[in-house]
Amino acid sequence: MLGGLARRSGLVRAVDRLLLGTAGSWRSEREVSDRRPDCAPPRSEEAGLYVHWPYCRRRCSYCNFNKYVSQRVDQQAMRDCLQRETETLLHLSQVSCISSVFFGGGTPSLARPDTIAAVLETVAKCTSLPGNAEVTLEVNPTPEDVARLSEFCSAGVNRFSIGVQSLHDADLELLGRDHSSQHALQALAEAQRLCPGRVSVDVIFGRPGQKLQSWEKELEDLLLVSDDHVSLYQLTLERGTALFKRVQQSELTMPSDDVTAHMYEAARRILGKAGFLQYEVSNFTRNGAVSVHNQGYWRASQYIGVGPGAHGRFVPRGAGGSRREARTQTLEPDVWMREVRHWGHGTRRRVELSPLGLLEEVLVMGLRMTEGIPHENWRQFSPLQSLQEVVGQSQEVQELLEGGLLVLDDRGMRCSWDGLALLDSLLPTLLVQLHAHFSQQEAGRH
Ligand SMILES: C[S@@+](CC[C@H](N)C(=O)[O-])C[C@H]1O[C@@H](n2cnc3c(N)ncnc32)[C@H](O)[C@@H]1O
Ligand code: SF4
Repeated sequence: MLGGLARRSGLVRAVDRLLLGTAGSWRSEREVSDRRPDCAPPRSEEAGLYVHWPYCRRRCSYCNFNKYVSQRVDQQAMRDCLQRETETLLHLSQVSCISSVFFGGGTPSLARPDTIAAVLETVAKCTSLPGNAEVTLEVNPTPEDVARLSEFCSAGVNRFSIGVQSLHDADLELLGRDHSSQHALQALAEAQRLCPGRVSVDVIFGRPGQKLQSWEKELEDLLLVSDDHVSLYQLTLERGTALFKRVQQSELTMPSDDVTAHMYEAARRILGKAGFLQYEVSNFTRNGAVSVHNQGYWRASQYIGVGPGAHGRFVPRGAGGSRREARTQTLEPDVWMREVRHWGHGTRRRVELSPLGLLEEVLVMGLRMTEGIPHENWRQFSPLQSLQEVVGQSQEVQELLEGGLLVLDDRGMRCSWDGLALLDSLLPTLLVQLHAHFSQQEAGRH
């Protein structure tokens, strides 16, 4: 989940915005004249698969994801359509292997386990799905969802991402969550019993009224019971949400940027002390339990998105394509289902990524990781021009390097510890240089 790129600690929303195609003007969507053979997506036979379940029991006060609260969800119809769209897009991509599957939402733990199993069977029928491929399910920790965790495992899920959000019941209430902290702890225990070492928790900080000391204590308490993966999200105030209204009406106050920056730094320190390694702006792991699926996004690998509002990035080789497309499925579930029944898919928008657009994504996503962009990964997208040649040249980038926020060495380009917390303010400099490089190349050709 990666508003925009201007926030200090740049947590999940920047990623979400990129993946959801709502980022700022730097995202290149045009059929531009920078079509050159020296910048192309690597030929990949692999992809990740994202499956979006769009329904929730109720709306959390802060959330503007693509989700719907419906009393009558037609589970059978959703299952049929998810299977059909999976089949269509897998054929279109012609990938020979799906390396990871992520059931996200909305609340995918409201789907029936046989729906999850059916989608996985479809994948295995159309392409290869290795037995050890990571299959993640996002779970809202209500007792009803927890009671079905073992059925989800039987269906093929081998990793759970639990939406704990907070251990304070008053805050869960404020956030409009449908569970208590006690429920979350029970969910965590049951998930760890079923998938030891493969359970992640989502936590939100920067909540209205939250104080630094209380956050430190809350995180320390959570780490005593959590497994090997933590995703830390800074609360973003989204226009149109109930929380936004309450803050606008001065009923609630959000912590200042300085306070949230201190909360982020405190969290990094506490997680480090507890043996967690930060491997991405918002993600921390012990024992190497990284999210393979999300790592695919950050490394700019191909992925296929099915379900209402899902996003994908892949080359439609089955239709003769050779360039990567950014694809978005129709948002509204009933309309999406009609389209899937009619066309076999509900792709609403397709944009061929220009070479410049592709490198923007490689840069923006890659620098979120502590490993940054290794030279060999960059070369897959830009075989003829190095990171140094494309983005390392300007005076402004030199200042970031000299100032110790950015590192460019024989491993590749990455943020320093301090730079990662300031990623959102570094990116514009790098993107400006990327654009300038492309313009110069273009001018040189004329
Ligand atoms: C969209 S939810 C889907 C999974 C599940 N329904 C849940 O709530 O845990 C994925 C993650 O995004 C987080 N999220 C949604 N809106 C957010 C916001 N405005 N600021 C920060 N995190 C947000 C959620 O709290 C959750 O951890
Ligand atoms: S349960 Fe998850 S997806 Fe649904 S409204 Fe809450 S945060 Fe958003």
